[in-house]
Amino acid sequence: MRSLSSSADYTSPLRGIIGLSPVGCGESNEKYDNYTLFRIYPTEESQFEIIKLLQTSNDSIEVLKKSRGYNDSTDVLVPPDRLQSFEDLAKENHFKYDLKSQYGRSFESPERAPRRRVLRGFNIYEYHSFAAIQEYIETMASKHPELIKLQTLGSSYQGRKMKLVKISQNPHAGNPIIFIDAGIHAREWVAPAMALYLIHRLVMDPEARKRDLRGVDWYVLPVVNPDGYEFTRSSKANRLWRKTRSKSPISNCYGVDGNRNYGYQWAVSGVSNNPCDMETYAGNKPFSEPETQMVRDVMLSNADRIKLYVSLHAYGQYLVYPWGYTAELLPKQWRKLDSLARKVSLAVQNSGGQPFKVMSAGQWYPAAGGSDDFAFGAAHVPYSYTMELTDGYEFVFPENRLRNTLPQLYEGFRAFASEIRNEFSNKRLRDHAS
Ligand code: ARG
Ligand code: ZN
Repeated sequence: MRSLSSSADYTSPLRGIIGLSPVGCGESNEKYDNYTLFRIYPTEESQFEIIKLLQTSNDSIEVLKKSRGYNDSTDVLVPPDRLQSFEDLAKENHFKYDLKSQYGRSFESPERAPRRRVLRGFNIYEYHSFAAIQEYIETMASKHPELIKLQTLGSSYQGRKMKLVKISQNPHAGNPIIFIDAGIHAREWVAPAMALYLIHRLVMDPEARKRDLRGVDWYVLPVVNPDGYEFTRSSKANRLWRKTRSKSPISNCYGVDGNRNYGYQWAVSGVSNNPCDMETYAGNKPFSEPETQMVRDVMLSNADRIKLYVSLHAYGQYLVYPWGYTAELLPKQWRKLDSLARKVSLAVQNSGGQPFKVMSAGQWYPAAGGSDDFAFGAAHVPYSYTMELTDGYEFVFPENRLRNTLPQLYEGFRAFASEIRNEFSNKRLRDHAS
């Protein structure tokens, strides 16, 4: 595996001493340096059950990604004091796995040279601070007022202004809208990078402008969770934060999983009701978070025109559609959702990218309160997806790979747009479209 072989040191599965009980660790910058990543390849149902136990047992072990067979791994991050006991468990249950030790040492520190940007301008193939992203959006809007309108949606919990980027050649034509959001999960940096790249291509590439803006409008919200995003940039110890940063009124813990906070079949599956849970706390009620309220309002106030919604996440290279809250039920239109997803996957693959694993979100693993289910079930958006970008680097997709990867993924969005145009734009535009 690429990222494994690029890592210099392996830990023998037999090494280590008896696990010590967890000690309260100060959140030093080195927090993850001695963690071990296990990529487990489950082959039996019983192994899935054990993995499920791991993530519900309020443990210091973090499950970063789940799998459903499909030659895919379940990725688990294990702190040093649990290494031995975890390896014992893995051996007892005949897990097949790879591992990568000293996991946090490979984290890149953000803005290694912040002044670079001032000298060179905004590099679309880099990770940026939320402030730099805002500045980029504002600059683009003022340079291209005929294409871009910004709508201020409100403020995040900590007061960061959220701006929706609306790209249209003719805002009054009543075109179908493609609504893309990204970064509801703080640590998934490649998602906001992709959202910004979409804006960049649609506005700066004359071909894309002609082709991909014809008959469809694009609404892009590049960072749904700016407080969390900035938190992950503040130190390597915070790099794997997922939730928002709101203070729980009933505990000393922070954050809600925004993608468990939407008000469709809220909290019926795959959530935690413990505010101190690092991963999937659903909030004390649906839409408890200002950030999810803002996305909801974009969906509901444009419900008649939004024909496609895509929420960008990382990682795993999955493209999934409703329902997410259950594995038992598919929407009656699931074949259309499925076949468009496969076209998109093929387009990405044809441009040299990795194909997507396509299925309903609930078939992957049931989790309620996702934005995809709300868009589909409550705002009646006919095509709704969650797109998990990239695989092989977990949440720390290397900055130097953006230059290759983002353009490949763009081809998927072209495929999305041509389908939406064909199905929903008026006839004249269809005839002229390629
Ligand atoms: N990784 C995403 C999450 O856990 C997947 C969401 C898929 N959608 C859903 N409604 N479960 O938030
Ligand atoms: Zn996510």
